Amino acid sequence: MSTTASSSILRRALLYVPSSSPKFLEKSRSLTVDTISYDLEDSVSPAQKPNARTRLLSFLSSSPRPPHITELSVRINAVSSGLALEDLTTILRAKHLDAIVVPKVNKASDLHFITDIIRHTLPEPKENPLKILALIESAEAITNLNEICRASPYLDGLIFAAEDFALDLSLTRTPSLTEFLYARSAIATSARAHHLSSTIDLVCTSFRGEEGQRVLREECLQGKGLGFNGKQCIHPSQVEIAQRTFAPGEKEVEWAVRVVVGDEKADVKGRGAWTLDGKMIDVPVVGKAKATVEKARLCGMDVDAIREKWKDQEPE
Ligand code: COA
Ligand code: MG
Repeated sequence: MSTTASSSILRRALLYVPSSSPKFLEKSRSLTVDTISYDLEDSVSPAQKPNARTRLLSFLSSSPRPPHITELSVRINAVSSGLALEDLTTILRAKHLDAIVVPKVNKASDLHFITDIIRHTLPEPKENPLKILALIESAEAITNLNEICRASPYLDGLIFAAEDFALDLSLTRTPSLTEFLYARSAIATSARAHHLSSTIDLVCTSFRGEEGQRVLREECLQGKGLGFNGKQCIHPSQVEIAQRTFAPGEKEVEWAVRVVVGDEKADVKGRGAWTLDGKMIDVPVVGKAKATVEKARLCGMDVDAIREKWKDQEPE
C-alpha cells in the first residue's frame, strides 16, 4: 500500500540569491529559511557568470555553515546553455552543498547528463546524497514528466517556473493563474506518483508592501490546494509567509489530532468508520490526519500539547 503524501524534507520556501551579488550572498547568512538556491542562471548576466561561479565556491566553502538555512542548493545553468559542466565541476567542490537545482529540464537526458557528472565527481553517496531539484518550464517538459521523474536516483523534487513556461506557450500571466492550472496539476501529480519529496510552486513576482503580501498569501494557498508543498521566493520578505502558509494551520492540526485520538479509540471498539463534528471519518481521512500531524511535528509545532488537550476525544 502506498504511503500518504508527506515527506521528511521541508521545502516550504526556496529563496533565490543571485550569486553575482556579494551583498546578497552575505545577507543570506543571517536568514532563516528551509532552502536557499544560490543562482548562477538567469539572475546573473553572461559577463558575470565566471566571477559568480568562483565567488560562490568560496562562499560555500567558508565556515561556519549558515546556521539557519536547512538546505543549501545551487541553481546551475541549463544543460543546453553549454555552461552546466563548468558550473557543476566547480560547485561540486564546495564544502557545504545539499542540492543542485537544474533549470530547463526538458527530457530525461538532461538529468542523465547531470547525474553522470555527479557520479564521476563525487565519491559514492553516503548517508545524505546530493539531491537534484528539476525546474519544469516548457511544454516539452510537461509532456515528458514521467520520464523526467524516473531519470535520476538523485531527483528529489520538481519546481514549476511560470515565466519561462508563459514564454514558451506565448501566454500572459494573469492574477487568477488559471492559464497554469494544467501544468501545475500535472507537476504535482507526477511528483507524487514517483514519490518525490517536494513540489515547489511558481514565483510570486509582487513582493512589496501589504498588497504584495496579500497576493503572495493567496498564491501560496492556491498552490497548497493543488498539492504543492512549497514556493519559490525572490525576496527575504516572502519567506516567512510562504513557510507559515505551507505549514499546517493551527485549526488543521487540532482537527488532525482529534481524528487520530478518536480513531485509536474507535479502533479498540472495532469501528472502521465513525463521526466527528457530524462528519464521517474513515481510513483515508485518518491517513490524511496522520500526515498532517507528522508534518506539524516537522514544522516544530507542539503536537504533544495539542494531544494532551484532546486526549479524551471519543468517536461519536
Ligand atoms: N537574497 C538575499 N538578500 C536579499 C535578496 C535576495 N534574493 N533580495 C533582497 N535582499 C536583501 C537586500 O540586500 C537588503 O538587505 P539589507 O536590509 O541588509 O540592506 C534587504 O534584503 C532588503 O532588500 P530590498 O532593498 O527590499 O530589495 P532590493 O531592491 O535590494 O532587491 C530584487 C530586489 C528583486 C532585485 C532582489 O530581491 C533580487 O534580486 N531577488 C532575486 C531575483 C532572482 O534571483 N531571480 C531569479 C530567480 S526567479
Ligand atoms: Mg527559468
